[in-house]
Amino acid sequence: MTEIRDLLLSRIRDVADYPEPGVMFKDITPLLADPAAFTALTDALAEIAERSGATKVVGLEARGFILGAPVAVRAGLGFVPVRKAGKLPGATLAQAYDLEYGSAEIEIHAEDLTAEDRVLIVDDVLATGGTAEASVQLIRRAGAEVAGLAVLMELGFLHGRTRLEPALGGAPLEALLTV
Ligand code: PRP
Ligand code: MG
Repeated sequence: MTEIRDLLLSRIRDVADYPEPGVMFKDITPLLADPAAFTALTDALAEIAERSGATKVVGLEARGFILGAPVAVRAGLGFVPVRKAGKLPGATLAQAYDLEYGSAEIEIHAEDLTAEDRVLIVDDVLATGGTAEASVQLIRRAGAEVAGLAVLMELGFLHGRTRLEPALGGAPLEALLTV
């Protein structure tokens, strides 16, 4: 596993002062462009999906789509997108959450999940945990069970894990890297 971690870490680019001064942005595009690294990431997340007993993968727009869709295919599971508000045409459930400045809203198609589903949430980064916490609420409101949350990278200094653990209610939070 250490070898995979080193490979993944070596393909994440630190971009200083983006998108605003003082922020160190973690750019995953070099990882996506490297087939060995992207495949290793997909395999590692698919193994978590299989281990969790998930029936569906939920990916969080936008970067969670890039990671979550191949994980779903690799694990033989359905994929359900959680989108930013206003993008889904059918009957949706919506969940607002706070950002550092202001708030945002995400949505899911209510009919894409049932009471029989166990859902693994996939995203690239866990920062404050606000996006993931709102997605947990959406999945529960859709009647499904949360099997866990899997991310490529956890930003430990923002303490998203502490915020999320009560919301996850014992479901595992797995981060391949903690930075
Ligand atoms: C980023 C990142 C996570 C989220 C983590 O998404 O991809 O989804 O922030 O932050 P949080 O834990 O504080 O909620 P963002 O909405 O910035 O952009 P994206 O559409 O490129 O994924
Ligand atoms: Mg995102």
